[in-house]
Amino acid sequence: MAAAPTFYVVSGSTVRDVVGKNPDQIFNAVETAYRLHAAGKSINPDSYFLRYPEQPRNRIIALPAHLGGSIQKSGIKWISSFPENTAANLARASAVQILNDPTTGYPLACIEASLISATRTAASAALAAEHLSPGPRTASLCVIGTGVIARTTVEWLKARDWQFSQINLYDASAAEAERFGKWLHERYGAPAHVRHSMEEAVAGSSLIIFATTALEPYLADEMLLGRLSPTVLHLSLRDILPNVILASQNIVDDVEHCLKARTSVHLAEIETGNRNFISGTLVDAMEKRFALDFNRPRIFSPFGLGVLDLAVASFVLEAAIASKAAIAVPDFFSNSTRWQD
Ligand SMILES: NC(=O)c1ccc[n+]([C@@H]2O[C@H](COP(=O)([O-])OP(=O)(O)OC[C@H]3O[C@@H](n4cnc5c(N)ncnc54)[C@H](O)[C@@H]3O)[C@@H](O)[C@H]2O)c1
Repeated sequence: MAAAPTFYVVSGSTVRDVVGKNPDQIFNAVETAYRLHAAGKSINPDSYFLRYPEQPRNRIIALPAHLGGSIQKSGIKWISSFPENTAANLARASAVQILNDPTTGYPLACIEASLISATRTAASAALAAEHLSPGPRTASLCVIGTGVIARTTVEWLKARDWQFSQINLYDASAAEAERFGKWLHERYGAPAHVRHSMEEAVAGSSLIIFATTALEPYLADEMLLGRLSPTVLHLSLRDILPNVILASQNIVDDVEHCLKARTSVHLAEIETGNRNFISGTLVDAMEKRFALDFNRPRIFSPFGLGVLDLAVASFVLEAAIASKAAIAVPDFFSNSTRWQD
């Protein structure tokens, strides 16, 4: 008779510990998830958005997913975004990840997932930076929107041995940019320049991270990016106007997913009526299925696939169980036996 599984809870501090001790395995989990997804060994339905008509900036998103291959897990991430939290020094995003056994369907664990989400976003951005940039891992870095996602992305770039000749920061809140600059200095001894405008920060940069909470695109000047043909990690998805998208080479994580929800690439599709401006996915670029154009900006727009959270969470759960840091909840499924003989 099949027994119900032990249900585990994994805290944020355990997630942080596992991620910190296993960066290579986490990076590999993200790459594996992308490759399994590209090979059709995944199910990644559309994300589902809970929105509040009275508070349009707030939302909670459900990301269900399944991964086959070496992962064999199903699950769902349930992630809130409340940008005004930051005024009280509370993170914008909070989340849980449920993992399920795809054989019985039983939930296996509830894992704190804001760090999993930031980790998979940042690791996938670092993976993109490696594959979409012209040379070795050196750049003049620009960060627009200096919050949690930008900080985690810089951590992953540094963990992947990137060296920065210069770092320019811009945030709509100068205090946020100043705090980010202080963190960079304390953590890496890296001097950073806080700029007074997005234009000033972007100029002269060869690797640009957009991680703002902008709802509507604002970057309209094609020449601003065009001059240096940078690699652009457009993580916040809604900063760049369609004319700039159309003047650039565009790489996404998944075409169907990314051309939705009024992302910049979705707006470009609405404007042109076609998707010809998308060169392909990151895995297509990694597999050299199209040629990278180093004479134009290369913009990576990752919609953020639930399969990435699943792969990272699956690794974290196994490591947390192995180190006895996962908290077992005995008898969670106390009513699972259909008939008591
Ligand atoms: N693509 C993905 O897979 C993925 C995954 C996670 C988060 N995200 C996105 O990343 C973004 C950043 O998330 P976070 O957790 O770092 O948020 P955060 O609130 O910690 O930081 C966002 C920062 O952007 C600044 N900002 C807002 N609008 C700006 C503008 N127009 N110009 C300059 N700065 C601006 C804010 O002042 C804030 O400091 C969000 O939009 C989030 O949805 C994307």
